[in-house]
Amino acid sequence: MTEFKSKIRTIEWVDTFSRMVDQTLFPYEFKYVDIKTGDDMFDAIKTMIVRGAPAIGIAGAHGVVLYAQELKNLPRDEFIKKLLEKADYMATSRPTAVNLMWAVEKQKEVIKNSNSDVKGIIEELKQNAIKLENEDIEINKKIGDYGAEVVPKGATLLTHCNAGALATVGYGTALGVVRSAFANDPTIQVFADETRPRQQGARITTLELTMDGIPTTLITDGMCSYFMKKGMIDMVVTGADRIAANGDTANKIGTYTVAIAAKYHNIPFYIAAPLSTIDTSIKTGDEIPIEERSHDEVTHINGKAICAEGVNIINPGFDVTPHELISGIITEKGILRPDYKKSIAEAFKN
Ligand code: MRU
Repeated sequence: MTEFKSKIRTIEWVDTFSRMVDQTLFPYEFKYVDIKTGDDMFDAIKTMIVRGAPAIGIAGAHGVVLYAQELKNLPRDEFIKKLLEKADYMATSRPTAVNLMWAVEKQKEVIKNSNSDVKGIIEELKQNAIKLENEDIEINKKIGDYGAEVVPKGATLLTHCNAGALATVGYGTALGVVRSAFANDPTIQVFADETRPRQQGARITTLELTMDGIPTTLITDGMCSYFMKKGMIDMVVTGADRIAANGDTANKIGTYTVAIAAKYHNIPFYIAAPLSTIDTSIKTGDEIPIEERSHDEVTHINGKAICAEGVNIINPGFDVTPHELISGIITEKGILRPDYKKSIAEAFKN
């Protein structure tokens, strides 16, 4: 496979702090921000300066290093006790994307298994965070290559939200598939759902694909069935925030609607995600915690109200697509197919 070069590095450990692209500023500014304390990292994840399941996993791992640096003057036992508490706190900064809990857990293992002094543990945590960062890019490239094999020649791919370089350390999961496919077939193109209410499709996906010269058409969320009926969509590929052991998949709100429309129109619907997004501790999607976000996201656009004052609002950040609607889950170990209970269990075996 020819690798397509993505120019974006979303998050990176630099010496003693975490550097990340501030995604609240898109599409007006592309600016890096340096996060230097554990509490600031908690807020960066919560307020979505950094977002996207794999990216917030890495941010969580960085956050544990930041807390470790702040606790460095404590005696070793106390340092470990406090740091494990801080790590658990970091894991609560957002509830749905399991990559956050997964990466924090990886850091907790380093803390628990280390024989080093405080300084040594901090160094080991830093090295582990950098390792997770580098692995994320490698994993995405593998996902991209496996996914590219099922992209029809000249296809138009529909995606929802942003599962790109900006949702990961770089390259992307769903958009990694797009990048790898585009490297071999520059006639493919993307339709991007705008993704209300936070507009990740409009603000982020169109930005990163355009930066890479990949032809992209922005559509509003309600338009997908219209274009599917016209035969203008050949395949859907989205990311995931948490996948249950039976394949049920939580992703950005609206994904479920797209999956139903794809099924009706006989269009393959793929999820692209690393194995770290699969939560084998839960049997079905019913157990996935769904984040309820601020009502302002629905009532306002760019600070301006778009509805009657006082109207009732509900704003779940994610929905769960039942496994029956999913044609395949593209992972770094290949494409998992139904029966997902079996193929997922198999993927975790070796
Ligand atoms: O609320 P967000 O922007 O963090 O939600 C992001 C998504 O839903 C992505 O599709 C998902 O995290 C996969 S990212 C590779």
